[in-house]
Amino acid sequence: MARHRKPLIAGNWKMNLGLAESEALAKQIKSSLPETPHCDIALFAPFTALGAVRAVVSSTPIWLGAQNVFWEKSGPFTGEISALQLKDAGCQAVLIGHSERRVIFGEKSADLRKKIGAVLDVGLFPVLCVGETLQEHQAQKAREVITSQIQEAIAEFTRQKLKSLTIAYEPVWAIGTGKTATPGQAQGMHDFIRNRLAALFDNEFSLQTRIIYGGSVKTDNIDALMAEPDIDGVLVGGESLKADSFIRIINFARRAIHV
Ligand code: 13P
Repeated sequence: MARHRKPLIAGNWKMNLGLAESEALAKQIKSSLPETPHCDIALFAPFTALGAVRAVVSSTPIWLGAQNVFWEKSGPFTGEISALQLKDAGCQAVLIGHSERRVIFGEKSADLRKKIGAVLDVGLFPVLCVGETLQEHQAQKAREVITSQIQEAIAEFTRQKLKSLTIAYEPVWAIGTGKTATPGQAQGMHDFIRNRLAALFDNEFSLQTRIIYGGSVKTDNIDALMAEPDIDGVLVGGESLKADSFIRIINFARRAIHV
C-alpha cells in the first residue's frame, strides 16, 4: 500500500554539542543531502546552538527544531523560552513532552497541552513524544498509558488545528539503553496510536498524521523499522550526534521506502 505520509527523520541532540560541533555536524548533514530529499529532516539542537545551526540550514530543506518551549507568550518566566522566540530564532518544529522532560522535570499532560497550543498558535510544528516506562511495559500497561498521554495532550484541539502534529512513540525502556522495540513491536504500537487518533477525531486525521519511532534507532535497524507501514520516520538520539550514522539513517530510510 502506498505511504500517505512523507517520512520525517529527526535528530534530537539533547544536551550535547557546543557551537563549533553543532555547526560542523549540521554542515556535514547538509552536504550529504540531495536537492530534494525523499524525507523531511529535522535537527533538534540545544537552544544555545539554534543560531549557529540556523545559519547552516536556513536555505535548505532541513528543519530547525527546539527541544522544549514554555506556553506563555512573554513575561516574568526566568529561564524559559516562548514559542514566538523560537520562531524568531528560526525554528520550524518543537519537541513536546520528551520522556526526559516528563520523568526528570515532572512535566504533566496539562503542561503539554498548553505547550502544543502555544506552538500551534505561532505556526510551528509540534512533535508530541509519548511512551511507556519499563515498569509500565512489564505490567502490560503500555496501551493504557499511551492512550491517556495522547488524549490528555490533544483531545481539546480540533483536527484542523492539529494538522501539523507529529507523534513520536518513544518507549522509555528503549531510550539510550541499546534495547530497541522490534520493528513488529513498534509497528503494533504505531497501529494502536493510529486507531486512537481515529477514535479521537476521524479516519482521515489518523491517516494523515505522522507517527515516528524513537529509542535506540541505529544504522542497523533503520531499514526494518522504516519498512513497517505505520512507522513514518524516526527520532534519533545518540546516533544523530555522529554525522556518518545519521546520514546513513537518512539513506537507509530512502532505500526502505523505495522498495
Ligand atoms: P536514543 O536514540 O539515544 O535511544 O534516544 C532516543 C531519543 O530519546 C530521541 O528523542
